[in-house]
Amino acid sequence: MPVPIVPNIIERLFLLRMNKGPGLFLDIFGAGAFQAVRVALKLGVFESLSGGPLTAAGIAREINANERGTRILLEGLESFGYLKKLGDQYSNSSLTVKWLLASSSTNLADIIDLGENHILEFSRMYLEESIRRGKPPMTIYEWFDQKPGSWRVFQLYSAAVARMVGDELLTKLKIPKDARRLIDVGGGHGLYSIMFCRQNPLLSASVFDLPQALTMTDELISVEKMNGRVSLKPGNFWIDDLGDNYDVALMFNILHAYSPEKNIELLRKVSRSMNSRGLIVVMEQLADKTVSQLAKVGTRFFGLAYLAALGGQTRTFDEISEWLLKSGFSNPRRINFRRTPGNSLVLATKAN
Ligand SMILES: C[S@@+](CC[C@H](N)C(=O)[O-])C[C@H]1O[C@@H](n2cnc3c(N)ncnc32)[C@H](O)[C@@H]1O
Repeated sequence: MPVPIVPNIIERLFLLRMNKGPGLFLDIFGAGAFQAVRVALKLGVFESLSGGPLTAAGIAREINANERGTRILLEGLESFGYLKKLGDQYSNSSLTVKWLLASSSTNLADIIDLGENHILEFSRMYLEESIRRGKPPMTIYEWFDQKPGSWRVFQLYSAAVARMVGDELLTKLKIPKDARRLIDVGGGHGLYSIMFCRQNPLLSASVFDLPQALTMTDELISVEKMNGRVSLKPGNFWIDDLGDNYDVALMFNILHAYSPEKNIELLRKVSRSMNSRGLIVVMEQLADKTVSQLAKVGTRFFGLAYLAALGGQTRTFDEISEWLLKSGFSNPRRINFRRTPGNSLVLATKAN
């Protein structure tokens, strides 16, 4: 079964819906499963199975670990949905093959590292204080500046998410054929710029971000053979000039960090840098009511994470639309993603 920890129908009805058993154990089991996957990735358990099934003893030899410890880990991973067992042989589940192997184009293993060493660690330190005072004592970005290597892990994580949403993004969002210049505001890794330039041969893009957030962007641009089409624009968007004459502006996962007033200030600055009839595209986890339980849980999870990390929060479509209308844009409209529930685009056009 390619989904971690799913109670069967009787467990769902009897233990959870009728509240006969402590459903909160699911959260504790989830936290334990997360730690097991993190350790399995670190030890190379899943990669050791990329050549085919192995016994527990064989895996222990491959990863150079204690056989009994390995066996207990494997039993856990099988029950959590990350491995399959046939006889005494283990193999990777389809979940693991698609999302956790280095050879997969949708490899999200970096998310586990960022989750454990950054987002969860920061939340452990500052969620309580953020709830008491409305914000953490420093933002997670200021904390990254003190923690060598963490900007890179953060960009690897964001790039993994970009690869995950990329196909659906490119299918659902067609930027105007005559667009020539794109600015990716807080674009970090630059993958979204790379994707749009690849889809639109006449387009070139500037990835605007803090210098320390752009450390791996050049590398990605080279790997993707987009030198000359995608360039870096290091700067602080509160202080520095963004450039001008842009036909498209991306603001992906930026607005959740700031107050409405600051967002209007930033959107006005972006608007001034754009040509008339230009297209602005905001990507956020929207806080609107949803019929999907997964979308609800996802956006609430991010709401807590943004509060603890940045003093921020998720926002609704109406809030973002209002800011856009106050910043020189018209006709705000929305595109929802199916594969990443809760994640949406808000589009608007630069008014004349
Ligand atoms: C959540 S990340 C989003 C990255 C990328 N847009 C994406 O969606 O994957 C927010 C980005 O905003 C950048 N950022 C934060 N404050 C900034 C500032 N004052 N000036 C420029 N970039 C900033 C961060 O460095 C980071 O790369």
